This record gives sequence, structure tokens and C-alpha cells, in this order.
Amino acid sequence: MPAVELSGVTKRYGVRQALCDVNLSLEQGSALGLLGPNGAGKTTALRLMLGFARPTRGQVRLHGRDPADPEARRGLGYLPERLSLPSHVRVRDLLVLHAQLAGLDGPECQRQVEATMSRTGVADRAQDLLGDLSKGLRQRVGFAQAFLGPPQLLLLDEPTSGLDPIGIRDAREWIGEARERGCTILISSHILSEVERTCDQIAILHEGLVRASGRFSEVVGEGESLEDAFVRWVRG
Ligand SMILES: Nc1ncnc2c1ncn2[C@@H]1O[C@H](COP(=O)(O)OP(=O)(O)OP(=O)(O)O)[C@@H](O)[C@H]1O
Ligand SMILES: [Mg+2]
Repeated sequence: MPAVELSGVTKRYGVRQALCDVNLSLEQGSALGLLGPNGAGKTTALRLMLGFARPTRGQVRLHGRDPADPEARRGLGYLPERLSLPSHVRVRDLLVLHAQLAGLDGPECQRQVEATMSRTGVADRAQDLLGDLSKGLRQRVGFAQAFLGPPQLLLLDEPTSGLDPIGIRDAREWIGEARERGCTILISSHILSEVERTCDQIAILHEGLVRASGRFSEVVGEGESLEDAFVRWVRG
């Protein structure tokens, strides 16, 4: 059973069609890079997978279940495109709350929060208010909350946004570690080189339509760069 499956998914916002008859399937343990120009529908697709929005037509399934079912969202980690963290809350307190929401409790909750803060480079800011962090540090906290659980399915919407080059390299390592333990990963990104390094398959969306999808060799021509393939599929 696929970890994520979109079958004939259309999403309309009034007259605007954000997604049009989208079919996508992601096997457990694979990593998909979701590419597409601004407004292509990437965030909309992720929001449908999270159950934050419902499709106008078609079906979204996580491990065979409707995302509206809390059981379907168990083991799901999410890093949103626009992180909105409560400025008056301390880093550790936010992560403890997220760990509890992920079903962790007692010493295991404390252990995971400390280990995740350390791995994402925010341990020395544990007592700081989120509102006092720089943009990149907030993004690191965003990664930390997504990694608690740990998740079986990670949905990352432009995950390297705001990170410095070291943070981008760190993020690549964290995503690699998640993959090694069998986590299914979906990354929406504009950084083609990052997608090339971290994913084994891609889907290119444009104006709500999947223009191409599959393994890199199925989407990118021989001797062609991913950037050239992207432009070719988008321009049609
Ligand atoms: N809540 C909403 N209400 C109305 N229109 C929306 C809503 N959410 C998204 N849209 C529209 O749907 C289309 C797809 O938006 P979406 O955010 O999914 O694109 P995206 O591929 O994530 O773009 P970006 O790369 O800029 O993040 C856009 O035209 C957007 O304006
Ligand atoms: Mg987006």
C-alpha cells in the first residue's frame, strides 16, 4: 500500500483551480521532490495530504486512510512553508508540546526533545523565546518539531528556506538520516540541486497539472540538467 496516494485530485478555490486531476503515488521509504513554479499547487497538494483542506474531487490517502482520520496522521511530520511559531514560548517548551502531540510521554519525551534539539543545533537556545530567534534558527526549530516522534512520513514545504549554507548541508544530513530509517519523504522545493541530492523521484507541477513524474531518468533526458528538464516540462 502506498504511503501517500492522490487519485484524480482536483482542488478549486472559487474560480481558481489549484490542482487539476492530480495522480501521485509514493511508496513507503521513497523520497519525492515536488517541483513547480510559484503558484503551481505544491503547497495545496501538501495541505490536502495533511487533511488541512479537502479535495474538490478525487481522493487523498495516507497508508490507505483518509487524512481527516487522526489515525492516518499518526507518524506524520510536517514542516510548513510559512512557519508561524508563538513568539512568547520557549524553544524547549514548544518541542515538548509537539512531542506530546506526537504521542510521546515521560522520560522518552524528554530524551527525544533533548536529542532532537541537539541534532538540529538549537540545544543551546532551549531556554530562549521563539520570538528572539533568527529566521534560520526558527527554521531549525521547525525541523526539530517535524522530526519528533520520529515520523514515518515527512512532508517538508520548502525546508531549506532561510537556512545558511551550513544549515542547508545539515538539513540534507537530517533528511538522509530519516531516509535511512525508512521514513517516506515528500519535499516541495525550488532548490533543484537539493532535490537531486535528497530525492529518488520527482514530480513537476505547473498550473495544477502534473507535467512529469517518476524517477529522475524518466523525467530528465540523457545529458540534460534538471534545470533544463524543469524548464522544458513547464514550458511544454
Ligand atoms: N486558501 C486559498 N484560497 C484561494 N486560493 C488559494 C488558496 N491557497 C492556494 N490558492 C491558490 O492556488 C494556487 C496554488 O497555490 P500553492 O500555494 O499551492 O502554490 P505553490 O506551488 O506552493 O507556490 P509557491 O512556490 O509560490 O509556494 C495559487 O494560484 C494560489 O493563489
Ligand atoms: Mg508553496
